Amino acid sequence: MDIKNSVILITGANRGIGKAYAEAFLKEGAKKIYLGVRNSDSVKEFVAENPDVLVPLKFDVTNHEDLQNATQVAQDVNILINNAGILFFDDFSSSDLQENARKQMEVNYFAPLAITQKFAPILKKNGGVLITVSSIVGHVTMPAINSYCASKYAVQSMILAARAQFKPQGVRVMGVYPGPIDTDMATDLPMEKFPPSAVAEQTLKAIKDGTTEDVFTDAFSQETYAAFRQDPKAVEERMLMLDAADEAA
Ligand SMILES: NC(=O)c1ccc[n+]([C@@H]2O[C@H](COP(=O)([O-])OP(=O)(O)OC[C@H]3O[C@@H](n4cnc5c(N)ncnc54)[C@H](OP(=O)(O)O)[C@@H]3O)[C@@H](O)[C@H]2O)c1
Repeated sequence: MDIKNSVILITGANRGIGKAYAEAFLKEGAKKIYLGVRNSDSVKEFVAENPDVLVPLKFDVTNHEDLQNATQVAQDVNILINNAGILFFDDFSSSDLQENARKQMEVNYFAPLAITQKFAPILKKNGGVLITVSSIVGHVTMPAINSYCASKYAVQSMILAARAQFKPQGVRVMGVYPGPIDTDMATDLPMEKFPPSAVAEQTLKAIKDGTTEDVFTDAFSQETYAAFRQDPKAVEERMLMLDAADEAA
C-alpha cells in the first residue's frame, strides 16, 4: 500500500500512541493526516510545524455530533485509526469498578463501534484500511485492570466482526495489540515499557506488507500471545503472578 498518497484519520492523536502514529505517517510522506482531538490547542504547535499535512479535527469519540461532523469533513480518508482510549486500575475490591467499566466501554468499545459503522462506507469507497488499537489484554486478562480488559475483549469481537463484513468489500481490517507502552496511560504500570514509536513502526510495516491483519507490536505482546496460543491456562496463571508481583513492589 502506498502511504504517500494516503489520507489518515487518527483518534486521540495529541499524545501517546496516537501522536506517534501521526509522526510516523508524516515521516512516510502521507498526503493528509486528520488529528482527531478533544482540544485543538493540544496540537497547535505540532500542526504549525506541518500545516500542509496536519489537519486538526475536533473529535471527542463519545460525542455523536463530532462523529457526524468527522464523517462529513473526512470523506477522503483511506486509513482510519481507532486509537483513543482510557484506562482505570480496578479489581473486585474497587468501589468504582462498575462506574469505571461503563466509562471504559463508552470510549474503548462503543466509540470505535460507532466510528467503524459510520466510516465503513467511506473506507469502502476509498479502498481503505481500518485499524483498531486494542491491547494484548484484549486476549488475556490482567486482574489489576479488570474492567479495562473487558473493554478490550469487547473491541476484539468488534474487530473480528468488522473483518468478516468489510473484508469482502475491499476494506482491510487490522487489530493492533500492544503490550506495556511508555505513555501517560501506563505511568502507574510497574513493568518494562516499550516506546510508542514501536507501535507506530510495527503498524506501518504491517500496512505496507499488505497481508498482516494482527499486529503484536513488542516483545511482551508477541511472547504473551504465543504462550497464550500454546497454553491459555498457563498464561492465566502467569497474569495472576504478575499482579502479585506488582502488589509486592
Ligand atoms: N500505553 C499502553 O501501555 C497501552 C497498551 C495497550 C494498548 N493501549 C491502547 O493504545 C491507545 C492509546 O493509548 P495511549 O497509551 O497513547 O494513552 P494516552 O497517552 O493516555 O492517550 C490517550 C489518548 O486518547 C484520547 N482520548 C481519551 N478519551 C477520549 C475521548 N473521549 N475522545 C477523544 N479522545 C480521547 C486522549 O485525549 P486527551 O488528551 O484529550 O485526554 C489521548 O489523546 C488506547 O486505545 C489504549 O487502550 C495502550
